[in-house]
Amino acid sequence: MPGPVPEQPVGLVTGAGAGIGRATAELLHERGYRVVAVDVSADALAWADGLDGVRGVVADVADEDGNRRMVAAAVEAWGRLDAVVLNAGIARRTRWDAADAVDAYDAIMAVNARGVVLGIRHGAPAIAASGGGAIVVVASTSGVRADPERFAYNASKAAAINLARAAALDWATRGVRVNVLAPGPTATAIFQGGTASPEHLAELTRNIPMQRMGTPREQAEAIAFLASPAASFVTGAVLMSDGGITANVGIFPPPLAEATS
Ligand SMILES: NC(=O)c1ccc[n+]([C@@H]2O[C@H](COP(=O)([O-])OP(=O)(O)OC[C@H]3O[C@@H](n4cnc5c(N)ncnc54)[C@H](O)[C@@H]3O)[C@@H](O)[C@H]2O)c1
Repeated sequence: MPGPVPEQPVGLVTGAGAGIGRATAELLHERGYRVVAVDVSADALAWADGLDGVRGVVADVADEDGNRRMVAAAVEAWGRLDAVVLNAGIARRTRWDAADAVDAYDAIMAVNARGVVLGIRHGAPAIAASGGGAIVVVASTSGVRADPERFAYNASKAAAINLARAAALDWATRGVRVNVLAPGPTATAIFQGGTASPEHLAELTRNIPMQRMGTPREQAEAIAFLASPAASFVTGAVLMSDGGITANVGIFPPPLAEATS
């Protein structure tokens, strides 16, 4: 059974400078968590300046010492760690025959897969020492299916998913739940930067059964659920938050809404 819920839990969110990570850090803060907001960009963390109960830590999740520092920041400031959201990620198009394909693969795997290894390695013991809690790994629909011209991202997100499952098994008896939130297209810089033209965005939206992209806040809500004691028997799970994309085999396009006028 879950232990008592701390009055003011402590959460740590990586990639908290923008997009889904920032929305998650803000939502946890609104819900009464004290929050360590981690990002590789100091400028991106400016939103947290002077906010009571939020501490910014500049760190690269691919760096072991950065992971050590971010966890230490939570424990030093508030004496505990209840929830870790491993959200930092990068995306880039990769073509098999491009000159930089292998460099791009290494760079993407460093953040999206190695970053998850390090985040669990340093986060899980601190959570266990606090009496238990949760890790949420932010993967992607691209980790359960594949996208054209994005093999490195696809591999990194599949790795993130199975790292979370493996960690769920290894930490289950020590009170650390580990789950995956797999977002579909969400209106943030990572997505819009990777898919330039409005025509391409319209085509993508057409393939989403709900006919729209998700918002960072919607992803944050799902992450907050997995991180919270409300999900106390959920571990090793992959929660799709994708407007129905992966429900579709993909042979038939999803039906469009009927015109109302
Ligand atoms: N936006 C989408 O459509 C979408 C879909 C599926 C999955 N995701 C995943 O959700 C996560 C967040 O995506 P987003 O769209 O909010 O991204 P974003 O680009 O809007 O924000 C990512 C943040 O992470 C930070 N970051 C990047 N590399 C880092 C590193 N090495 N160490 C620490 N911080 C780092 C960036 O500085 C930035 O502030 C990513 O893991 C991404 O792969 C996003």
